Amino acid sequence: MDRRSSQRVVVVANRLPVHRAGSSGRWQSSAGGLVTALEPVVKAGNAAWVGWAGTAGTGLRPFTHEQMRIRPVSLSRDEVEKYYNGFSNRTLWPLFHDAIRSPEFRQEWWEPYVEVNRRFAAAAVAAAREGDLVWVHDYHLLLAPLMIREERPDLRIGFFLHIPFPPEELFAWLPWRQAMLEGLLGADVVGFQTYAGAQNFSRAARAFTDAEGTDTLLEFGGREVRVGSFPISIDFDWFDKRAAMEETEQEAAGFREKMGSERRLILSVDRLDYTKGIDNRLRAYEELLKRGRISVDDAVFMQIAVPSREPVAEYAEMRTRIEQLVGRINGEFGMPGRVAVHYFRRNFTREDLVAYYRAADVMFVTPLRDGMNLVAKEYVATRTDLSGVLILSEFAGAARELRRALLVNPRDQEGMISTLETALTMDRQEARHRMAVLRTVVRRHDVHEWAGTYLEALRG
Ligand code: ADP
Ligand code: G6P
Repeated sequence: MDRRSSQRVVVVANRLPVHRAGSSGRWQSSAGGLVTALEPVVKAGNAAWVGWAGTAGTGLRPFTHEQMRIRPVSLSRDEVEKYYNGFSNRTLWPLFHDAIRSPEFRQEWWEPYVEVNRRFAAAAVAAAREGDLVWVHDYHLLLAPLMIREERPDLRIGFFLHIPFPPEELFAWLPWRQAMLEGLLGADVVGFQTYAGAQNFSRAARAFTDAEGTDTLLEFGGREVRVGSFPISIDFDWFDKRAAMEETEQEAAGFREKMGSERRLILSVDRLDYTKGIDNRLRAYEELLKRGRISVDDAVFMQIAVPSREPVAEYAEMRTRIEQLVGRINGEFGMPGRVAVHYFRRNFTREDLVAYYRAADVMFVTPLRDGMNLVAKEYVATRTDLSGVLILSEFAGAARELRRALLVNPRDQEGMISTLETALTMDRQEARHRMAVLRTVVRRHDVHEWAGTYLEALRG
């Protein structure tokens, strides 16, 4: 048998694609870009997935879920607090997103981070047969590539970062910066969403470790490490097909009817995260209402938000602020039977999200910083009739590819207001033309192409 056809991929990521739903104990899909992107790849490639099931405790045994071989890693309550809420989500997440919130640097979080990385590395080593490819994902596991290499120098090891890699001046804040970089340099291929991310990493590696070389090829410890940009994507065909189904059309028409078919629907879909710029966009909409440029008879805003990282104080504060803002806008502008902002804070099935995407005239995507932003690509993939307008932040990785969206700087309030107005009044022909180009880009660069390109680079 050809070596490659028997070669399997072991995906290693903090989050598993499924978690136990509330008290029912049933497995439910996890939200977030990493899971959306990797799930179809793992299913198609018969790969294994090493990860955490989302709650503290031990004892989950390996199992198979919809063709995915799941290898759970356990975390104690203390580790969830220090490794996940602490080091991953209060140190690395804000630091890597332009320090939008102040990162905290605490030794008592660092030690569990090292410990948990070691556990993930051991689980990856246990799951990998000789010749398999090990593919480590995201900021929770920056140390794991080197730990895996120390145990199994025979394996090809890849790493992909789903979030931005910050400029050297910001990365330099990290007291453990050298260890982090050396951890990553344990991989054969280190991948980023954008070329800027790859460049930032290579520069930091040259500045803070003994690595030498160019932005795309480093030499470290007598080995070569390839560095590159691999913009992640979605399963275009799935969204495209689902959008075209009669059932979806009916569901979308039902939503429209309930909200008032003559009103333009502005939609946003996010994890409830302070990087997403949710308040900036609500304020832009509020301002259009205030200035009398639109009224609740013409337009309605729908914010779908999935709860995320709730024990982290910055998330709880942001949620309160957004909910107050929604209340204020509805209090001021709502009319009987005419809510100004519909706000849903819960998980939806992917099928339901597609129906909402189908119903929306304008998709408003305004992160202050985002590795990629798959919601923007999902919207494009569902616009089978070429209708709809995408507003997209310049600070999302997706803006590198989706040039025909209406690009906007979310910190420029006047720019946000006028762009929203432009989107609401854009003529049909122009919207169709823009959407056709956007769809060509996402169709061509789907998640299977992404995985194929990355794994080819990893095979060397
Ligand atoms: P991030 O990875 O930061 O969450 P992305 O936009 O890249 O941002 O990915 C978000 C993913 O989570 C998308 O696939 C989106 O469909 C999904 N998602 C967002 N909100 C919800 C929700 N309320 N219910 C279910 N899935 C959601
Ligand atoms: C982003 C991160 C992922 C993470 C997802 C959801 O996409 O890059 O690693 O899985 O957000 O966040 P959570 O903390 O719930 O896993």
